[in-house]
Amino acid sequence: MDKIRIHGGHPLSGTIKISGSKNSALPILAATLLTREPCTIHRVPDLSDTNYMLQILKHLGAEVERASGTVTVAAAKIDSVAPYDVVRRMRASVCVIGPLLGRCKEATVSLPGGCVIGDRPIDLHLKGFEALGSAVRVEAGNIKVFAPKLTGAVINLRGKFGPTVLGTDNVMMAAALAEGTTVIEGAAQEPEVVDLANFLNKMGAKIEGAGTRRIIVEGVKELHGAEHDIIPDRIEAGTFLVAGAICGKGVTIKRVEPEHVQAVTKALSNCGFKIESTNNSITVSPNGVAAPLELATEPYPGFPTDMQAQMCALLSTTGGISVITENIFPQRYMHVAELKRMGAHVDLEGPTAVIQGVDRLFGAPVMASDLRASAALVLAGLKADGITEVSRVYHIDRGYEHLDEKLSELGAQIERVKG
Ligand code: EPZ
Repeated sequence: MDKIRIHGGHPLSGTIKISGSKNSALPILAATLLTREPCTIHRVPDLSDTNYMLQILKHLGAEVERASGTVTVAAAKIDSVAPYDVVRRMRASVCVIGPLLGRCKEATVSLPGGCVIGDRPIDLHLKGFEALGSAVRVEAGNIKVFAPKLTGAVINLRGKFGPTVLGTDNVMMAAALAEGTTVIEGAAQEPEVVDLANFLNKMGAKIEGAGTRRIIVEGVKELHGAEHDIIPDRIEAGTFLVAGAICGKGVTIKRVEPEHVQAVTKALSNCGFKIESTNNSITVSPNGVAAPLELATEPYPGFPTDMQAQMCALLSTTGGISVITENIFPQRYMHVAELKRMGAHVDLEGPTAVIQGVDRLFGAPVMASDLRASAALVLAGLKADGITEVSRVYHIDRGYEHLDEKLSELGAQIERVKG
């Protein structure tokens, strides 16, 4: 297995371009199943997660062509049974159920595995499908959903941890081809949900309210092919902004929607970093001594859970006591044990991490456990004295396009060691 080796202490500077959003590309690629006509999607990042999704689409019978960042999918004739072995490897595969239900009125997809960031239930997805008139049953590790016909309904998708992003996506995609009107209350407001709704409307769907807690879908008979550019990845953008904060002397990210990363830039400026934005770029620079912070993860537009690990790394090197509360995935602290191996002082109290900033971190061999925890370990390695080796970097390759190459363009001493 490959490793990433970082020689810490080299300040970053310069400019990098942000890739297309993983969490927007996945549901939008799934949505191409809703029509027999070809769809062309631009700025699809080259990640193992997006490649898994393309494998699933092919397995279902779609024709898939990829030319660098542009993917064309033609789902003229499709099957409704998703391949167990691929689906098992990626939780986000669950978002093919909605389009299969909309198009074929049935779907068989393996139950998504849990993962290290915590339990990953899909009860809200299934509640939405049942409200649209589906019968749902779990059989031999598969979810089977079928409906003689789909009928619009009023559905509240809010769970005890707040709205569900992929649940909102799934219900929106199934409802697009239901008879009548569906109202989704307690909908997720993430920019990726808006991007999907925009793509569905280009396909002929009638969706209003995406980006608010209340989405209204007026069902149509069928959808046609469309072309779409994926929005920039706000979590990759946030990750590079934290890289610029932890050891930068002026890092600019381009092709970013500043509004999508407002919670992160606000946190960094509250920490004392200088943030300068234009309509499609953001620059982060040091600006005196960084201050500790109190942070809580919230559904969008609050501080994103997918940036919590990266902020743990930064606040470990910021003087004073910081407190982070993880409200979305309370167990999402796999990075803490590894950061402590590098000298960080972090105490966990349930969903809360109390971080005592230290003057120095020390390079060490550390193990990646999930996508964002891995990124946090790389960021800590950039700052640490000495050499940090991050193993199991396949976690990073799931969600970051050429992270090591982009960081070395900014001056990091970082290399991928083939294992
Ligand atoms: C999406 O996952 C993202 N993944 C995650 O990013 C992100 O962390 C998450 O949203 C929260 O923002 C993709 O978009 C592919 P949820 P999703 O349903 O939709 C609970 C990354 O690092 N819940 O919004 O699966 C759930 O347990 C990944 O890129 C239920 O209780 O997350 C969690 O506590 C990691 N029942 C909360 O809701 C359900 O039926 C939010 O989950 C569904 C979810």
